[in-house]
Amino acid sequence: MTERDDSCRRFAERRAILGAGVALVPFLAGAARADEPGPASLPPQPGDQFAFLTGEKKGQIVKAEDIPLGGPQVQVYPIDPKSGVVRDGSRLNLVLLARFDPATFDDATRARSADGVVAYSGVCTHQGCAVNMWASEAGLLFCSCHGSIYDPKHGAEVIGGPAPRALPSLGLKVANGAPTVAEGFSGRVGPGQH
Ligand code: FES
Repeated sequence: MTERDDSCRRFAERRAILGAGVALVPFLAGAARADEPGPASLPPQPGDQFAFLTGEKKGQIVKAEDIPLGGPQVQVYPIDPKSGVVRDGSRLNLVLLARFDPATFDDATRARSADGVVAYSGVCTHQGCAVNMWASEAGLLFCSCHGSIYDPKHGAEVIGGPAPRALPSLGLKVANGAPTVAEGFSGRVGPGQH
């Protein structure tokens, strides 16, 4: 059994025993509004950075050091740093940023990361809930609606629960110390098989 397999097994056991071996991150689905035409509803564009959704830094651009090393994820929306437009006109633009030692990534994940930061859609591929929780011991993303579990160090592949596919990722680079979109989502965002 690999260290990762063991970690997943331990997480499943803890969840079964404790019901909630995870740290709660605010559920933000309610923050989304119906899609509106215009730049705020465009999907993440190359050159976009990311803005905090909540907290005292709400609306500010996220720097790499703002993201806790080793988790949890930070929920953000893309922002055009030139115009200041936050792309929160569609909840499908909800993004998760997380930061790890890049040596723990698989090759494909490392290639889309920047300074150890990875970016994934924050919308569960099962039924579209916000992926709003974090399994702190196992280092996994967790959707509290029906229990889907994603591994952010391995392309957000599904390792548990009903989600049919991985969370789409964004390719990143760093500009002015901030994670910045280099490539758009790797696949379709939102629920569904494909
Ligand atoms: S919507 Fe995430 S597990 Fe069902």
